[in-house]
This record gives sequence, structure tokens and C-alpha cells, in this order.
Amino acid sequence: MYPTILAIESSCDETSASIISNGKVLNNIIATQSIHEIYGGVVPELASRAHQQKIVPVVRRAMEQANVAMKDLDAVAFTQGPGLLGALLVGASFAKGLAIGLDVPLIGIHHMKAHILAHFIDDPKPKFPFLCLTISGGHTQIVIVRSAMDMEVIGQTQDDAVGEAFDKCAKMLGLPYPGGPVVDQLAAKGDPQKFKFPKTAMAALDYSFSGIKTAFLYFLNRERQKNPTFVEENMNDLCASLQDHLISMLMEKLVQASEQTDIQEIAIAGGVSANSGLRTRLLALAEEKSWNLFIPAFEYCTDNAAMIAMAAHFKYIAGEFDDLEVTAMARMTF
Ligand code: KG4
Ligand code: ZN
Repeated sequence: MYPTILAIESSCDETSASIISNGKVLNNIIATQSIHEIYGGVVPELASRAHQQKIVPVVRRAMEQANVAMKDLDAVAFTQGPGLLGALLVGASFAKGLAIGLDVPLIGIHHMKAHILAHFIDDPKPKFPFLCLTISGGHTQIVIVRSAMDMEVIGQTQDDAVGEAFDKCAKMLGLPYPGGPVVDQLAAKGDPQKFKFPKTAMAALDYSFSGIKTAFLYFLNRERQKNPTFVEENMNDLCASLQDHLISMLMEKLVQASEQTDIQEIAIAGGVSANSGLRTRLLALAEEKSWNLFIPAFEYCTDNAAMIAMAAHFKYIAGEFDDLEVTAMARMTF
């Protein structure tokens, strides 16, 4: 019998709690913070305060729904980093207090590793070693996953994350935050070949997404000078072309990584993996390259505590616990 663990995620703007018992995730309670929408981005101080407000009801709901009592818990897990420091501190402090109160071990989890381990929540599960393209609002990485506890980054962005490129370009188009899902929706009705943008050449398996932001801004400004309603008239085509461009950049290095490592077991993870254009392109590529492709359920793409619970399960089994002096780390290394 494997342990029963309460896991908490509070790295950004989602307050989430999940219970895993005997290797099975029982639930995934998520309270999204809508307060940030009017500011066009996450406001760190407001995120911290919203976490503090929501953490008790969210944890209580997870416990009640799973029919698990405090005395049943074998460990408490939390997102240690990377993320917004104030937001992380809320989850870390809560988890510490609870672990002390219950006299159970404490487990700090790396947020990006948890995104990858979300693939072990449901079947089918990837076989080791596999490659995971981890794409979120803060990260863009190609990771070789040798086991649940042995992962190595073999390529990553040298500046912005792809999710950031989606969100910032969406903002230039006057779309609400977070822009990624909105671009995705509008892109479905547009022509992906209508506009072309320059590609940034990067060494080896690395990425760069800051250039496209600038190129996109200059392009919009130029077109707006000729026609003030250019954006409104071409919104769907702009979204489709931008999305297509970002996906092409992602795929190019992923194909290269698969060829270099001779690994055909391919997974994606993180918020941007919810993108429908990316999913379609990956399915076609998998067919062409004979990849064994793993795409997480939508629920486990964006931030959630179920993935923290899954990662905690593996750490518990490996006997990796944290002491009470563990701290939240905004820039936690991989
Ligand atoms: O993993 P996540 O929830 O939080 C971070 O750890 O950053 O990822 C959030 C990012 C945001 O940039 C958001 O715009 C993007 O994921 N995103 C999407 C889609 N859904 C979420 N980007 C493109 N298409 C989507 N459907
Ligand atoms: Zn995330």
C-alpha cells in the first residue's frame, strides 16, 4: 500500500489541492484567481493574498471530497518553486504548519518536474526514457526523462517562454489575459499562412522567443499606419499566423531532439500544451515520424495540484523528504 498525500500548488494564480492515495490521484480542486484579468497579467501581491484567502477552503474541499481525514495523511507536499515568491510562500508555510501539526513528512516539489510527471496520473503512461517538451508561461524546455527522479534539460529558451510570447502578442492585439487560450480560439477561424514572421536561429536545441515579440509589434505598427483598423479586420488570420509560427519554432527543435537522442517516446506538458493547433500538428508529426505521443488531459496541462501529488508520490517512494527549514524558491533550478 502506497501513501496518502495532500498536495498543494500555489506557484502562480491557481490555488489548488489534491489527494493521492496508493498511487491514484483522487481529486484536483482548483480555484482560479479572476482578480488578475482586469490588470492584463498576474499581479504578484494580489496572487499571494488570494492564495491566503483560498488555501483553507480549497484544502478542506479536497479532503472532504476524497473522504480523507487529517489523521489519514502520510505526508504533505507543496510546490517549492519556480514561481512567484509570495505565492509560493503561502503554500510552503501552510504545508509546513500542517506537517508539524500532523507530525508527518514534508515534501517540496519542483513545479516543472511535476508538469512532466502529470503523465503518470492516467493511462497510457510514457515509457522511460522519453522526451518531454515542457511549455508554460515561464518555461520552454526539452527534457530527457530517464526515470521519475532522473531528468535532464537538453534544450531551453534563452529569453522568453513560449507562453509569454503568446500572452504578450495577444496583449498587442488587444486581447484579454491570459492571451494563449484566446489566440487558440480565434486561430481556429483564421488562415495560418496569411502572415509570415522571421525565425530566430538558435544554437543546438535552444529556443528564443523575445525576437518574435518585437517583430510582431513592429509589423502591427507598420500595418496600422497604412490601415488603422488592420488588427480588427485581420484578427483571426493574425492569431492563426502567430500560432502557426510559434508552433513551427517549437516543433523544429523537438524533431531535432528526437533525432539526436534516437528517442521516439514523446510527451508534452505545461499550460501551452493545451493549445489545439499544437496538438493537431503533433499528431501529424507523430504519424510521420512514428512517435509514441503523449498529450496530457486538459485538466493536467495548466497549473494543478494533481501533478504535485503525483510527483510527491514518487519522492515519497524514493524516501526523499524535506526538513522544516526548506524554503520556497522563485528560481528553483531544475
Ligand atoms: O503551466 P501554466 O498554467 O502556468 C505556468 O506555469 O506558467 O501555463 C500558463 C501559460 C500561459 O502563458 C497561457 O497563455 C498558456 O499557458 N496557455 C495557452 C493555452 N492555454 C494556456 N497557450 C496557448 N494555447 C492555449 N490553449
Ligand atoms: Zn505551470
